[in-house]
Amino acid sequence: MSKRLNQIKIKKRIKPGTIASEVVVLDNIGSTQDYIFENLDSLKDGAVIVAENQSNGYGRMGRVWHSSYERGLYMSILFKGVFSPSRYSGLTMLGSLSLCRYLRLEYGFDFKMRWPNDVMFKGDKLAGILANMRDGVIGLGFGVNINQDLSELPDMATSVFLLKGEEIDRNVFISNFLNRFQEDLKDWEAEPFRHLRKLWLDFALLKGKEITASTSSGIIRGTVEDITEDCGLIIRGDMGYKIVLSASELIKIR
Ligand code: BTN
Repeated sequence: MSKRLNQIKIKKRIKPGTIASEVVVLDNIGSTQDYIFENLDSLKDGAVIVAENQSNGYGRMGRVWHSSYERGLYMSILFKGVFSPSRYSGLTMLGSLSLCRYLRLEYGFDFKMRWPNDVMFKGDKLAGILANMRDGVIGLGFGVNINQDLSELPDMATSVFLLKGEEIDRNVFISNFLNRFQEDLKDWEAEPFRHLRKLWLDFALLKGKEITASTSSGIIRGTVEDITEDCGLIIRGDMGYKIVLSASELIKIR
């Protein structure tokens, strides 16, 4: 099996739809997210950018995203339609829930989504999703640990290879995931909150859990009950009151 990303192999399996109007495969790049915004004029709506390596891959709050060469998936998708802030948070959450669904269907493990944007397996992080928006245009970035071994991962992280015990063809992984993601996008466009909540109820790691969240406005403690239409987390505090936590103010959840 060739280990390299290959544009033709990726494209040939993708069903016609709203994304992957073009697939750009890069070798070394700073960040696929930055590439999207640096090339906005020439890239088409739905463009998919994947890279073998990122020298400056990043996640939420500027955290480093470890991007070992030819091992993981480092991918950004461009959404050029103008998005409102609530559709922006919806799309971010849809990305992580859709990835959970795909991973569970394809590999059979009990992957969970840790609000707002992580894919977890039993306490270890498998993937992170990041959305950046400028002037209503969104770059949706996916970092997935695919073929990394333990020495190539940060603490508390895992990969599909470590769970499955065999190397994964990343070209097939990308096309199959994008096909699933297109299905979710279609259902989300038709009924945004209904579809997100259905997926969240299936994959939420935090539902019913007692959490302590550090936020930009202080510490919140309570039990996670649900999500709001804007993808906030509804938490029932110890005194019985409800608090809505928004992803933009979250620093850390324990
Ligand atoms: C997170 O866990 O906070 C999100 C991580 C997102 C990483 C991906 S890798 C592809 C894209 N390019 C980046 O620089 N970041 C995202």
